[in-house]
Amino acid sequence: MTIIASSILAADFARLGEEVRAADEGGADWIHVDIMDGHFVPNITMGPNIVAAIRPYTKKPLDVHLMIDPADPYLAAFAEAGADRLTVHVEAGPHLHRSLQEIRKLGRSAGVALNPATPPEAVAYALDLIDLILVMTVNPGFGGQEFIARSFDKIAAVRSLIGARPILIEVDGGVSIDNAAALVRAGADVLVAGTYIFAGGTDHGRRIQSLRSAAATPSDNKS
Ligand code: DX5
Ligand code: ZN
Repeated sequence: MTIIASSILAADFARLGEEVRAADEGGADWIHVDIMDGHFVPNITMGPNIVAAIRPYTKKPLDVHLMIDPADPYLAAFAEAGADRLTVHVEAGPHLHRSLQEIRKLGRSAGVALNPATPPEAVAYALDLIDLILVMTVNPGFGGQEFIARSFDKIAAVRSLIGARPILIEVDGGVSIDNAAALVRAGADVLVAGTYIFAGGTDHGRRIQSLRSAAATPSDNKS
């Protein structure tokens, strides 16, 4: 079954706790939290203090996507703040292997994100330490961008690289009911959606439900 992760980047930040609760009660499986530093990506969002502030609003996994360079000095702070899953970018530093070891040592699920131009092979020698591969389907930094269609091939390539290992594939950026079925068909296990869920009004549950049904619809084409 496809996991739906609500990205709070598109939520109303003035009511963040309530937005997290609404996504939880609306049926989101995970809450996806985008951390940006204005250096690795051209935008700044939030730090461990905000993760700690929203933690009481849901018992569901907090899926923390670190778009920061360096990431290693902050891993423990995000784990202590309540992150269940920590994903670092392969492009954000020279020591991916060490970052993954550190996340595992902190007792959190370890993810690695690939920017659109980064080939899947970049993580080939770290697969034993990886619980999730996040395939960016837009350039990281902003919500509401157009989905990059070439990503379908890449998801399939990541799927074949993983083989029988118990590694989830997550896709992030421009996900909606228009591409959910094709993404699942290409091999995605986790769909992250921000704009589609939060910008569609206050009834997040309805949006989450339609994304879930779209993801479960058999698809023969790519859009
Ligand atoms: C982009 C973030 C995404 C973002 C997706 O850098 O990693 O998680 O929230 O937003 P939408 O769903 O609006 O493309
Ligand atoms: Zn993200």
